[in-house]
Amino acid sequence: MLSKEQLLIVLQIIKQYTIYDLSDYAEGSLLRRFNRLMVNNKIDFNQLIKLIQSNKEFGKNMIEDITVNTTELFRDPDVWTFLRTHTLHSLGKRNRINIWISGCSTGQEAYSMAILLYEMGLFDKSRIFASDINTQVLESAKKGLYRYRNNLDYLSNFNKVIVNNPLNYDETNDIDCSKYFNIDIAKDTIQMHEFLRKKIVFIQNDLVKNPQLDFTHFDLISCRNVLIYHNQNLQNRIINGFYENLHSKSYLLLGVHESILGANSAKFKKKGKIYVKQI
Ligand SMILES: C[S@@+](CC[C@H](N)C(=O)[O-])C[C@H]1O[C@@H](n2cnc3c(N)ncnc32)[C@H](O)[C@@H]1O
Repeated sequence: MLSKEQLLIVLQIIKQYTIYDLSDYAEGSLLRRFNRLMVNNKIDFNQLIKLIQSNKEFGKNMIEDITVNTTELFRDPDVWTFLRTHTLHSLGKRNRINIWISGCSTGQEAYSMAILLYEMGLFDKSRIFASDINTQVLESAKKGLYRYRNNLDYLSNFNKVIVNNPLNYDETNDIDCSKYFNIDIAKDTIQMHEFLRKKIVFIQNDLVKNPQLDFTHFDLISCRNVLIYHNQNLQNRIINGFYENLHSKSYLLLGVHESILGANSAKFKKKGKIYVKQI
């Protein structure tokens, strides 16, 4: 088992020998992930240090074991219903809508956004960028190919957000999910349609180094279930980056267990399930 003191040494070595800096990640989560990595690779602390120092490929791949990539289509359906009835409804009045899904993992959140925009008639005026630190999950995101049997929740979430009418639960919209993805039960796959895959620009971005995408400004940034793995100092830096990267009166969506604290809290106002940039 890695001690807290050993973890600090590992983090220093990572900073020195790889392109990553995990110093401001939450300690508890890092300890769990490194301990698991050491068990899986059958290595102890000294071997871990040597591998990071001498094996570039190990250092690069390590990020895949350390980051938590859990995600799903229309995760927390109530949030998507809120986006539909409030945020996107209001953004629909703008000429263009720029959206950044930051920490997109294997892409389900970006596809959920694309589907919702299409359903609301806002697809053509929107641009969707989706980023993650982990290049392996991004490759999977670009394919938009998921397991069917492990992901049956996707269908009930889709129905809650897209088929149900949130303003009148007695009414349902006659929309089949095959409009957006094919399910092949024999092959155990869910495949997102090409028009959705082509719509989303997937890019590698490390929020520690760059909490902004420099080439544009956004109407909506969604960064859900990412900050919980970071300490307060890093969360503050990232939220400040998002603030700078948002247009005035634009939106920041965080995970249901995440919030804006400290100096940044004056820069945003929470309205329902989302933060609105002040000024
Ligand atoms: C739990 S997933 C969240 C996925 C999705 N946003 C959701 O809520 O379902 C967290 C993602 O954040 C990414 N991540 C962690 N640290 C990051 C960093 N420094 N920069 C960019 N992405 C990061 C991880 O690779 C992982 O894919």
